Amino acid sequence: MTEKDYKEKIDAALADCFTGAAGLPLAGLAEAMRYSLLAGGKRIRPMLVLEFCRVCGGDVEAALPVACAIEMLHTYSLIHDDLPCMDDDELRRGRPTNHVVYGECTAVLAGDALQAEAFGTILRSKLPAERRARCAEALADAVGLDGMCGGQYLDMLWEGKPLSEEELTEINSRKTGALLTAACRMGVAAAGGGEDLDRAAMRYGAALGMAFQIRDDMLDVLSTDEELGKPVGSDAQEGKSTYMAMFGLAKCQQMVEKLTCAAKEALEGFEDTGFLCALADSLANRKK
Ligand code: IPE
Ligand code: IPE
Ligand code: MG
Ligand code: MG
Ligand code: MG
Repeated sequence: MTEKDYKEKIDAALADCFTGAAGLPLAGLAEAMRYSLLAGGKRIRPMLVLEFCRVCGGDVEAALPVACAIEMLHTYSLIHDDLPCMDDDELRRGRPTNHVVYGECTAVLAGDALQAEAFGTILRSKLPAERRARCAEALADAVGLDGMCGGQYLDMLWEGKPLSEEELTEINSRKTGALLTAACRMGVAAAGGGEDLDRAAMRYGAALGMAFQIRDDMLDVLSTDEELGKPVGSDAQEGKSTYMAMFGLAKCQQMVEKLTCAAKEALEGFEDTGFLCALADSLANRKK
């Protein structure tokens, strides 16, 4: 499958989510959830779930709920990341942010509900129970205290403070790397893949995740609101430490290239990894 085929498959599956509240007083919350979930987005994480599942010999259709689940979780993290108490941004995926349209209270609840629904979607899938449990555990580990939320906390705690490279890596491996790594591992888990594959998925995800956040920091300086679909200059405005601020453009570009090579090397010895290698290359040069 191509990136475009995967994206269409994922978008179609997501479009069917949370449609059951029509006419109920809950419809407003469902609408807020769908607003951000269906606003576009590159769908990198669900793509990683499906492709790792395929490479491990699993059934891609059966893994589709797991792919949708990680996009729900990711969308929740974006809604909360944009809130006035966090990055205070008003544009996301080319549209006004969730709280701008629905108000802060509904935006918080839409994020909360998307998080719970992500786990429910995995646990209700038709995969064998052991694989569902593995997927849910990988996701929980990636987003909790020592994962995405921990990273977002450090990102906030250390605003305005001059950081060491190690501290910046502490933030980014959690706030961004953990979920991308989980996507890869959940694909392996959905296919019932063994330890070797899980280790390769971890190494690929960690390198890809680091490269991804460095590129994100670069685009916050280099891009435009229109192209990026979110406000550029947000990091400087919030006093964030970023790779761009710490190292500058040329070194960032070098780091992204090196990490992209490391991601691809992690897959050596496994067959049929062309898509995953090409994806790493395309993310290194992404424009949005
Ligand atoms: C943005 O993630 C948040 C970060 C982790 C840097 P993406 O760049 O994957 O955002 P979407 O899903 O395409 O909108
Ligand atoms: C946030 O990083 C990563 C998340 C956990 C959402 P950023 O704050 O840099 O993400 P963007 O640039 O707003 O997408
Ligand atoms: Mg942030
Ligand atoms: Mg942000
Ligand atoms: Mg950013």
